[in-house]
Amino acid sequence: MPGKIIIANWKMNGNFSLAHEINNYLVKMVNAPNKIIICTPSIFFNYFDHQKVNLGAQDISVIEEEYGAYTGEISGKLLKYSGCEHVLIGHSERRQYFNENNEILNKKLQNALKFNIQPIFCVGETKEEYDKQLTAKVLEDQLKIIKNLPVTDQLKVIIAYEPVWSIGTGLIPDLKYISKVKDIINKLFEKNLKIVYGGSVNTGNANEILNSWPIDGALIGGASLKLPDFKKIISFAE
Ligand code: PGA
Repeated sequence: MPGKIIIANWKMNGNFSLAHEINNYLVKMVNAPNKIIICTPSIFFNYFDHQKVNLGAQDISVIEEEYGAYTGEISGKLLKYSGCEHVLIGHSERRQYFNENNEILNKKLQNALKFNIQPIFCVGETKEEYDKQLTAKVLEDQLKIIKNLPVTDQLKVIIAYEPVWSIGTGLIPDLKYISKVKDIINKLFEKNLKIVYGGSVNTGNANEILNSWPIDGALIGGASLKLPDFKKIISFAE
C-alpha cells in the first residue's frame, strides 16, 4: 500500500559504512511514495544527505535553551542545525533505563515542537500490563501529554505503538489486537493522528503489517541495521 511511513531506529548501533550505504540507497528513493525516516545516533548525521534523507534523532534535551553549559545535551536548536526534522520521544528503553516519565517527556515534546521537529511519540504496554489487560489504561496515561496539546500540534505528532513485549522478541500482536489499540488511540483525539507499529518488524511479517493492518507505517529496530532486510521491508510498502 503506497504512502507508508517507515522509521528506522538504530538505537546504540551502526557504523560509518552502514550510514554511507543506507544514505546511498535513500537518496535514490527521494521520489518514492513512502516516507522513510532514519533515526541514528547523532554522530552519523553528517553521513546523510540532509536534502534528500529524512533524518531523525533518538533523543532531545529536556533543556529548553538553545545553547548553554549542559554537558552532553543536544538541544532542539542543535538537532535542527544538524538536519534533523524528526525525533523519537518516549521510547520504552528510555522510559525504562532513564526513568523518563510524563513530566520529562512533555518537556522534550515541547522542545521538539518549538524547533519544528516532528515528534515520533512511542507508547506501549509491558508484558505484565498486557497480561492484566491494562493496555487501554496504559496508553491513555502515556498519551495524556499529547492529548493536552492544541489540535494543530497533536496533528504534527506520529504515534508509534510499540508493545514492550514485542520489542526485540520476535512476538507481534495480531490484527484484532492492533485494531483494538487503534480504536483506543483514536478515541482519545478529536482528529485521527498517524499511527505506526513497532516491535519485531522483519522481512517475514512486514508485508502483513504494512498491508493488512490498519496503521500508517512501521518503526523498525534490529532489521533496519541490515540493508537487504531494510530494503525488502520498504519494498512491501511500495
Ligand atoms: P525491534 O525494535 O524492531 O528490534 O523489535 C523496535 C524498537 O524498539 O523501536
